[in-house]
Amino acid sequence: MEAIIQLQDVSKEFKVLNRREGLKGSLQDLFSRDYKIIKAVNNISMDIMPGEIVGYLGPNGAGKSTTIKMMTGVLKPSSGTILCNNVVPYEKRSENAQNIGVVFGQRSQLWWALPAIESFKILKDIYQVEDKAYQDMMDLYASMVDMESLMHKPVRQMSLGQRTLCDILAAFLHNPGVVFLDEPTIGLDVAMKAKIRELVQTLNKEKNTTVILTTHDMGDVDALCERIVIIDKGTMLYDNDIQHLTELFGAYRTLSLSLVKSGKDVTEEKMNALVNSVEQTLCHRFDIQSGQAESGKQEEMTISVTKNEDQIEVLVDESKTNIIDVLNAIQKEHRIYDMHLQEISTESVIKKIYEGGLV
Ligand SMILES: Nc1ncnc2c1ncn2[C@@H]1O[C@H](COP(=O)(O)OP(=O)(O)OP(=O)(O)O)[C@@H](O)[C@H]1O
Ligand SMILES: [Mg+2]
Repeated sequence: MEAIIQLQDVSKEFKVLNRREGLKGSLQDLFSRDYKIIKAVNNISMDIMPGEIVGYLGPNGAGKSTTIKMMTGVLKPSSGTILCNNVVPYEKRSENAQNIGVVFGQRSQLWWALPAIESFKILKDIYQVEDKAYQDMMDLYASMVDMESLMHKPVRQMSLGQRTLCDILAAFLHNPGVVFLDEPTIGLDVAMKAKIRELVQTLNKEKNTTVILTTHDMGDVDALCERIVIIDKGTMLYDNDIQHLTELFGAYRTLSLSLVKSGKDVTEEKMNALVNSVEQTLCHRFDIQSGQAESGKQEEMTISVTKNEDQIEVLVDESKTNIIDVLNAIQKEHRIYDMHLQEISTESVIKKIYEGGLV
């Protein structure tokens, strides 16, 4: 099978002004400009197969959106080549547009003042979607979401969730080979996130659409992605199955503890205090990685403590530390209302990689 998207040694550099501070600085900037080069994307190569859902992950500023902009033809790479459906996106932007759909979580592609249905009709014309194909798509949509309540509202009157739903439906409308989703669930509540994930999954299955997804929400990744690509500072750190990634960290398990009575009002501050206190408890006996751990010391550290809503999560490398010893130590100083043990979560795996756990 041939790849639907191919990136070969793709890099993107931005030339930005090194701004000087204050009024004097601004005036100096007017006369002598001091530029610096940012390598936003650095030698990325990958092949994406038809029908794949690929999670394109990395911390803020890693270069994800820049890569997507190059794949969609908005930006031209500084070097390297991209092929999307056998088209060079930045050379044939409108031809490429026929083959792709795009959703940027923070802003809508739809016409603000128009009811969604009107936007859809315009898109149908722009992309020259045949009546039958359009009707089939609308029927498929109607089987998944309540189109009646959604389609007749002007986009500007919609909630963020409704608008995102519409944006996703619009992106798939002309049945493109590839859909790019850049943080599609940002700012949405739990129920709407689930709805969006279900929708993307169904459309991927029904239409065999390739999906490239960037997100900071590991729930999206767990629900949708088999393959993940991780970049940081423009450079690729990982490209493989998510399964493989979890196995790399197979010796890690997460101990989730309820140290406050459930249902009680728990504040962010209180949870932070608990994290600190559990860290203190463990720090005397074990090698522990705290939030402010100095870099360079990380590889020896085998325990990390974080919070997840009203739970305290202790990530333990069992090849180095006995998890029962950890539990005992915590129990001496904290009341444990509930606990459970689980495999390392995607969230923790990704966090470890961002922290340099793979290299
Ligand atoms: N138009 C631009 N001009 C100058 N620098 C830019 C431009 N666009 C992006 N950058 C820089 O390139 C780097 C990568 O940015 P990019 O938006 O691709 O990151 P990202 O991975 O999408 O991050 P986030 O998770 O925060 O969305 C950053 O350092 C950013 O400041
Ligand atoms: Mg981005």
